[in-house]
Amino acid sequence: MSSKNDWEEDIVRKILAAFKAPKTLDQHMCSILGYAGSSQAAPLLVEGLRRMEYRGYDSAGVATSFMDRILVKKGVGRVFEVNNAVNLDSLPGDVGIGHTRWATHGKVNEANAHPHLSSSNGIAIVHNGIIDNYLELKRELSLSGYTFRSETDSEVIANLLQRNYDTTRDFKKSMITTLSQLKGKYAFIAISKDGGLAAARFQEPLMIGVGKHGYFASSDILGFVRNTDEVVYLDNGQFAMLSSKAISISDFEGNPTPHQITKISKEFADADKSDYVHYTLKEIYEQPITILRAGGMTTRELDWLAASIVRSKNVYITGSGTSFNAALIGKYLFSKYARIKIESLISSETQFSPVYFDSNSILIALSQSGESADVLETANIAKDSGAEVISITNVMTSSLAHMSSISVSLNCGPEIGVAATKSFTSQLAILYKLTNKLCGVLDAPDFNQISNNISKLLLNYSYIQQIASELKNVSDIYVLGNGIHQYVAMEASLKLKELSYIHAESFPGGELKHGPLALIDSNAYVVVINPGDSTYASMSTATHEVKARGAKVIGISNIPNEIYDYWMPLPTVDEAFYPLIEIVPLQLLAYYSAIERNANPDYPRNLAKSVTVK
Ligand code: G6P
Repeated sequence: MSSKNDWEEDIVRKILAAFKAPKTLDQHMCSILGYAGSSQAAPLLVEGLRRMEYRGYDSAGVATSFMDRILVKKGVGRVFEVNNAVNLDSLPGDVGIGHTRWATHGKVNEANAHPHLSSSNGIAIVHNGIIDNYLELKRELSLSGYTFRSETDSEVIANLLQRNYDTTRDFKKSMITTLSQLKGKYAFIAISKDGGLAAARFQEPLMIGVGKHGYFASSDILGFVRNTDEVVYLDNGQFAMLSSKAISISDFEGNPTPHQITKISKEFADADKSDYVHYTLKEIYEQPITILRAGGMTTRELDWLAASIVRSKNVYITGSGTSFNAALIGKYLFSKYARIKIESLISSETQFSPVYFDSNSILIALSQSGESADVLETANIAKDSGAEVISITNVMTSSLAHMSSISVSLNCGPEIGVAATKSFTSQLAILYKLTNKLCGVLDAPDFNQISNNISKLLLNYSYIQQIASELKNVSDIYVLGNGIHQYVAMEASLKLKELSYIHAESFPGGELKHGPLALIDSNAYVVVINPGDSTYASMSTATHEVKARGAKVIGISNIPNEIYDYWMPLPTVDEAFYPLIEIVPLQLLAYYSAIERNANPDYPRNLAKSVTVK
């Protein structure tokens, strides 16, 4: 791990320098990839799709253009599963497209998987985004005799292009007409049976990789970074015509637009698992390093941020999922230590909440990806009402970073595991730094010490594996925490749900007696977060209450106690800093429980890393 200490930093720096941030809200649940060159397309496409599939992975497919025909293979499952089943990579041809899907329109089945062919099989497309007027177009095309094989909105692009091609016999002209007829947000790549390849971008990400042996079009650098470090970022409203030897880029009216080739870091290709079995495990183990690198703000930036918060009358903090749990800890720290009145907003609820942002308001938006639709919506509502938006994100080229007046980088390197781990502790590290700046009463956190403590906890993982093996057949787990620990309990129960699929719920310890105690019997497992701080006595009472009802107790504490059936030892730190440490063994517990229960921790069922739809 230490040999890679610097690589993420280098990537972030280089990509930042190179990337033209999109100015609109992006959706990139699906990955699209195309290739035209002198190599066989299908193996390159399968490799690229495999690297991008963390964004969407319920089905996959590839199409190639070969000897005046388009060949398509696709299926349901992860890229390697579909490839094992139908040999996607064996399709012949040096021009092709590929796709991984995360279903929005239509069921997860082979018919709805991309690529989609036009009804005469002359054109195939892969698409990311939503075509708003697809029903209208579908009706119109059907009346002209074009037929459809899927429930998707995407398929209309193939038939529309085909109809325009049938009229013009010119692929570029048919693209121009098609682009003038589509409404919605999209990026798509199309191939024609005679070997043409075209790629268009409208409010969805799309870039061109310029390789020695051909060109790539992709929704993500990861699609081609193994093959080239030269990239052209398409702007919104541009499309590219690609052949094995050249690219031409135009606006949607067909006027040529100049383009610039920028270099990205080859090391981005190292976003792999290294020696770890899973990305999630790797990311949990990176935390001693990533918390040290979080923020990376200059003193001036930190001062500026703190000043913006202090001068705002109304301070809000928001996020989704794990980022919301971090936001709650931020709220606790700001209120308790800096005495700042701050309201937390769960992003998906903002539109229904009585929140009145104004020009005296500031919104602190937390999002690992910077692309969660719910968070972006909250940020937009705030901004439209005149509030200032500042963000804490891992992707400085994201839509959220772009719309914020200042964005602080988590700087924790790509987080591939769908369930957030290292981004959570990096968010906390930044919130601690900010709280300290705001009040100065919170002892300056000694992150080196905390980092050492986390390393020690991570070394001693075998007892967590043992506890996880106990949880193999458990159906319910309750996680209790008081004070600041209640938010760690929320995050721990979210991890348990996401990774192990065990039903997990969290409560403040004192709430047990107001209802949840009715659920506790000898089948229940209860995790009590019980460090020896101001919450200790109260949580010890809750522990006795559940123990008396026969529950098995997993105690996480710096103080051993016979009442615990299992004890997860913690080091002793200041009360405020426990969250950074105590979440780590709980992440491992969720991870190993997933392994025990044969769930894939990197790709929990039904979940996506970046939820860019409402
Ligand atoms: C999805 C992921 C969660 C994540 C949440 C917020 O639901 O599955 O792991 O916490 O999005 O993501 P963000 O990128 O905004 O932090």
